[in-house]
Amino acid sequence: MCADKIKKILVTGGAGFLGSHLCEQLVAKGHLVICLDNFYTGNRDNISHLEERENFRFIEHDICTSIDIEVDEIYNLACPASPRHYQRDPTFTMRTCVVGVLHMLELAQKNGATLLQASTSEVYGDPAVHPQPESYWGHVNPIGPRACYDEGKRAAETLLIPYKQSKIARIFNTYGPRMQEDDGRVISNFILQALSGEDLTIYGKGEQTRSFCYVDDLISGLILLMESPHRGPINIGNPSEFTIQELADQILELTSSSSKIVYHPLPEDDPKMRCPDIAKAEKELNWKPTIALEEGLKRTISAFKQKSIANCRFL
Ligand SMILES: NC(=O)c1ccc[n+]([C@@H]2O[C@H](COP(=O)([O-])OP(=O)(O)OC[C@H]3O[C@@H](n4cnc5c(N)ncnc54)[C@H](O)[C@@H]3O)[C@@H](O)[C@H]2O)c1
Repeated sequence: MCADKIKKILVTGGAGFLGSHLCEQLVAKGHLVICLDNFYTGNRDNISHLEERENFRFIEHDICTSIDIEVDEIYNLACPASPRHYQRDPTFTMRTCVVGVLHMLELAQKNGATLLQASTSEVYGDPAVHPQPESYWGHVNPIGPRACYDEGKRAAETLLIPYKQSKIARIFNTYGPRMQEDDGRVISNFILQALSGEDLTIYGKGEQTRSFCYVDDLISGLILLMESPHRGPINIGNPSEFTIQELADQILELTSSSSKIVYHPLPEDDPKMRCPDIAKAEKELNWKPTIALEEGLKRTISAFKQKSIANCRFL
């Protein structure tokens, strides 16, 4: 397939979950894709299918160190994304969000390139407004266990705003094939537990709600934002809301698992509700998610099973 105009596109965090899907889509569009990653949470297996493609390059690099390459566009996804990983070294997380973003900003400015930042619904913290529109300033604890990520991403947005060729996507919970199995996020946890016959762990009573966006929908939203005249911040997520209890029940049904559900205390600062208001994305990008939770879960469960068969698990 050939793109209208072939661009040189840098995807940082390209060996991660979302980054690898983004690289795949951009390679398919015919662009020259430079995938950059330090493998902090990413994995070479995520991009091995792309490494033979002539319009794909890989650079092992940490964005906390500056880099000088020629690019037309930058998607900055480099950052550990799940609490388990971003809390492992809070200073590294904050440095990636601030020093790393400054380096990407310098690179964009030098090249006159557009820089799209993967921001997050976590900038809204434990929200007092529901669902969350982009105009909501958030409710974040600056010294809590999630602060290195929440405040880091907020600072990154602040750094980007003065640069007119920057764009900000506020990504809500996303799931799909290649999401990390060990990152402690709810969908991967539940699927693994259900497939291995272990108890499913719900934190709290399971009444907290989340919205889950399938990865293909999310990636199309990011590319539309990059290609549109709009800068954001713009919410990209799926507004269909489910309680954690409903999610657990659905995964048990789709995996035909006989696992039980157990309830543990809620961690500190866990948001009670999280749901995007996507009116802006619908209006400005003509984007809305197309893949319902049940279909997305089926695809994700199937990918987890295939990986498990390859690794001789759940047999
Ligand atoms: N997945 C989600 O639900 C979600 C939600 C909101 C925001 N986001 C954002 O999207 C981006 C990608 O998330 P993901 O789910 O793919 O996570 P991920 O952990 O799978 O991917 C992040 C990638 O960045 C790399 N990385 C981390 N720090 C780096 C650094 N300093 N230099 C170079 N590479 C570095 C990691 O090795 C990894 O490959 C992140 O910025 C995250 O904050 C994701």
